[in-house]
Amino acid sequence: MKAVIINFKAYGEGSGEKAVSLSKAVEEVSKKVDFYMAVCPPFVDLSDVIRNVEIDVFAQHADAVGYGSHTARITPEMLKEKGVKGSLINHSERRLRLADIEFLVSKFGELELTSVVCTNNVATTKAAASLKPDYVAIEPPELIGSGIPVSKAEPEIVENSVRAAKDINPDVKVLCGAGITTYEDVVSAIDLGADGVLLASGVVKAEDQKRALEELVGLR
Ligand code: G3P
Repeated sequence: MKAVIINFKAYGEGSGEKAVSLSKAVEEVSKKVDFYMAVCPPFVDLSDVIRNVEIDVFAQHADAVGYGSHTARITPEMLKEKGVKGSLINHSERRLRLADIEFLVSKFGELELTSVVCTNNVATTKAAASLKPDYVAIEPPELIGSGIPVSKAEPEIVENSVRAAKDINPDVKVLCGAGITTYEDVVSAIDLGADGVLLASGVVKAEDQKRALEELVGLR
């Protein structure tokens, strides 16, 4: 099933009570469509969201450490304990070192958490895919938050990332993100070989989030 993963980032429109109401809206919409839909609320809202919805809830980041004397770190084990199903790793707004990405992907595998490693070009997508995460998500940073969809502005980066990732690891799923707002953007991503999309502002910053979600998945 193709995936639509929504990252709430640190937007006010997706935090606190709004993290819960937006997640409920995603859940409602997900029941009407044939997409796998998951949400990535801010850390502090994870428990509230998990208590209120049954769709998969992901973190936006995890730290590459285990339990121990690490002040202000969030370990993969802590996420697992809270009922989080997976996390973005190496988002362009929260980059990590290669060794940390490798640690997290392997730890997520042990804990049965879903890993979504974000990348910025074909070469990093290929490198990330070789670590055997569940997903890689190619997002050209210059298009993030731009409203200009990667699937239209840079179709070759999506196509080439899919090819490079699947060449090295046929099991990896490839998402694309940046500027995805409409159903047409989602369809072009899928036509280019992507297994789904990762997006934020098109839904979280929309005046009517529910309507934006319905439009995104082709219900309007
Ligand atoms: O994690 C998704 C993100 O970086 C893309 O942001 O606002 O362009 O959908 P946006």
